[in-house]
Amino acid sequence: MRLLPYALNHAQAVDDVMRFIVICSLILFTIVIAAMVFFVFKYNHKRNPRATSIPGNVPLEIFWTVIPTVLVLAMFYAGWEAYLQIRTVPKNAMPVKVFARQWSFSFEYMNGKRCDTLYVPKGRPIDCLIKSLDVIHSFYLPAFREKQDALPDRVRHMVVYPEHLGVFDVVCTQYCGLDHALMKTKMIVLPDTTFDRWINSSSTAEPKVALGDSTTYF
Ligand code: CUA
Repeated sequence: MRLLPYALNHAQAVDDVMRFIVICSLILFTIVIAAMVFFVFKYNHKRNPRATSIPGNVPLEIFWTVIPTVLVLAMFYAGWEAYLQIRTVPKNAMPVKVFARQWSFSFEYMNGKRCDTLYVPKGRPIDCLIKSLDVIHSFYLPAFREKQDALPDRVRHMVVYPEHLGVFDVVCTQYCGLDHALMKTKMIVLPDTTFDRWINSSSTAEPKVALGDSTTYF
């Protein structure tokens, strides 16, 4: 059974938005620079000894107001769609509490099991309930293009869709004091049977992960 809808490949969505914005910027940059160079030649002192007074041009004004507005709205819409993917908590999501403190992350599952590494089952959406125990931190999963600040006075949601087995970096991305750079851990995506066995066991040992079987990203 496929629990993760295809459309929820969030990293791909973020990369697509990024590519769209970069391409728009490059095209606009080229047009602006080309126009600038063209006008420098066209209106230089030799060719145009007397300054021409141009009072205005309404169609042109409308043109260069409407086009950028449409472009900016398109960029916003694409970003908003991707944003909603990780802010909308699906019913079948598994909640995990994420605690950030100076200078480490820790995780607590709904049955009270705690861990310093985030173990998650493949194919199940994870509802991260993110909170800080002291200053502001940020919970960042680079491979998933997902980031959420951890605040001391409220819980924030971020949904992660682990679609592939593997070991993924988790880092803090808010400057939070002396050891900010060392504040990191891993998210390990396990086959769901391995995860279920571990989460339901009374042992405090961490699950055995055969790294050879999984793919390491970043
Ligand atoms: Cu916590 Cu930087």
